[in-house]
Amino acid sequence: MILPFNSLISAEQLKPEIISKIFELTDQMAEMVAKQGRSNLLDDKIVALLFFEPSSRTMLSFQSAAQRLKAGTVFAQSASATSFEKGESIEDLIRVVEGYSDIIVMRHAQPGSAAIAASSCDIPFINAGDGGNEHPTQSIIDAYTIYKHKGRLDNLHVVLGYDSLQSRSIHSLSNLLSQYPNNRLSFIGPPKLFPSDEMLHKLEASGTACEVFDQAVLTKDVDVIYLNRLQEERFSDRQIFEENRLKYRLQRSDIEGSEVLILDPLPRIDEISTDVDSLPNAAYFKQTSYGVPVRMALLSALLNKQL
Ligand code: CP
Repeated sequence: MILPFNSLISAEQLKPEIISKIFELTDQMAEMVAKQGRSNLLDDKIVALLFFEPSSRTMLSFQSAAQRLKAGTVFAQSASATSFEKGESIEDLIRVVEGYSDIIVMRHAQPGSAAIAASSCDIPFINAGDGGNEHPTQSIIDAYTIYKHKGRLDNLHVVLGYDSLQSRSIHSLSNLLSQYPNNRLSFIGPPKLFPSDEMLHKLEASGTACEVFDQAVLTKDVDVIYLNRLQEERFSDRQIFEENRLKYRLQRSDIEGSEVLILDPLPRIDEISTDVDSLPNAAYFKQTSYGVPVRMALLSALLNKQL
């Protein structure tokens, strides 16, 4: 096996040696695409793409990754267009899709749905986001971007905001970075959206220094600022979303002249002013471009195929 697991559910699985292997495979995929565009590596495979929550980047980059490797794809988009609408369970659906494909990629609104789905099939499974829980493939893209720009994944001070309670991208990236030594994580945003005590205890138990700040900006001794929108669809109290959405926003004047790396898994809503985009250290569109080679590496590694 190329990776020591059949399915990717959580960034907890992404130990430093696994990340190094995925980065090596990602570089090979990027090189292959630059040279010849496509490869026959997965031409005998079918990838199932099940997206029961909206997605632009994750869905399209998995589709592009599959097509770059000449895999076939089968799709389901939105729960209402499938037999979920009739009350079918995740377990039953996954058992059925296992018969139609060689690997399943799923995004679903229910936290924990990825673990349920992975345990319902024998073929490889990839979590493309399970509600407000985890988004492990996004964390690999984030880590790859940090590594490309900073040359390391340890000894970093990373600021994360503004919805650390509900952002699965923040959860997974924090999880991944906590597996490297001497990282410091500062969570910024409204106190109601600070990380849960459970998340903070877990990060601290791994030796990662964590702090929380009710601020929109923090730049002193910071290597990376990682911002994600307030997760509008996950608020039980809409007033909290409306009160905070414009209070927490990174402005160009906050970081002009600084070398801090600015990342955002996107979509961007209010969290970064558009005039930040032209700064040389605003890397969020570069970050999204890494989605294809990273996901090519993951699909092929979990299918035990290498270029
Ligand atoms: N970053 C990310 O998951 O974007 P999408 O929701 O558009 O897939």
